[in-house]
Amino acid sequence: MDYSVPEVTSAEREFYGENLILLEGAISEFLSCMDMIRRYEVQLGNRDPVASSQTRIKSAESMRQKLQRLAFPVTAESAMKNVFDAAGVRLVCPFIQDIDRTAELIRAIPGVQIQTEKDYIRSPKPNGYRSYHLIVEIPIFLSNEKKYMKVEVQFRTIAMDFWASLDHKLKYKKDNLKHPEIIAKELKKCADTITAMDYKMQEIRSLLE
Ligand code: GTP
Ligand code: MG
Repeated sequence: MDYSVPEVTSAEREFYGENLILLEGAISEFLSCMDMIRRYEVQLGNRDPVASSQTRIKSAESMRQKLQRLAFPVTAESAMKNVFDAAGVRLVCPFIQDIDRTAELIRAIPGVQIQTEKDYIRSPKPNGYRSYHLIVEIPIFLSNEKKYMKVEVQFRTIAMDFWASLDHKLKYKKDNLKHPEIIAKELKKCADTITAMDYKMQEIRSLLE
């Protein structure tokens, strides 16, 4: 697994200031924890429920917009206090059941608290977006302090992730498209197909086991 912290630009360094290493620390702490848990699962003879992971620090621009939208002061201190997705990890799992298993493993880590849960798998967004989100609070250790940091963890199947990446592109390109609603409708159809496929694949795997 890759523990390296996500790349940031000078804009993020400027905005987050001394908080940036805390966000990076939270991400690498979480990943290292996940890595140990996954390797231990495999040693126990279970399947690794995670196929791949990605990380990101919320961009300075996106954080400023979110703070403004929520009517909070637009400062790093305010971001650390009021916004819980400055540090983000995405865990991509092969099958739907792997998402439940991975979440279960995370919930069982001593010292890790779950702050909030958003289940867009059982309750998909109207556009078809499916993913399971947890805000996880994880301790990081400084020389004289134990600090609790929040990390947004998104769980998706490979199929959900595939869909979301195209939907993300639509969000960016929307304003330059003639008929974005037609594309949105086609994407929604794909989401339904992908949902059916995720459950079918899960069913077949269960039969194979
Ligand atoms: P943000 O301000 O976007 O973080 O939204 P939020 O705090 O209301 O939380 P929400 O759970 O809706 O979204 C959190 C994250 O999930 C987003 O930052 C995206 O990464 C992802 N996400 C949510 N909705 C969609 C969607 O419709 N399409 C895609 N591609 N990603 C989404
Ligand atoms: Mg977000």
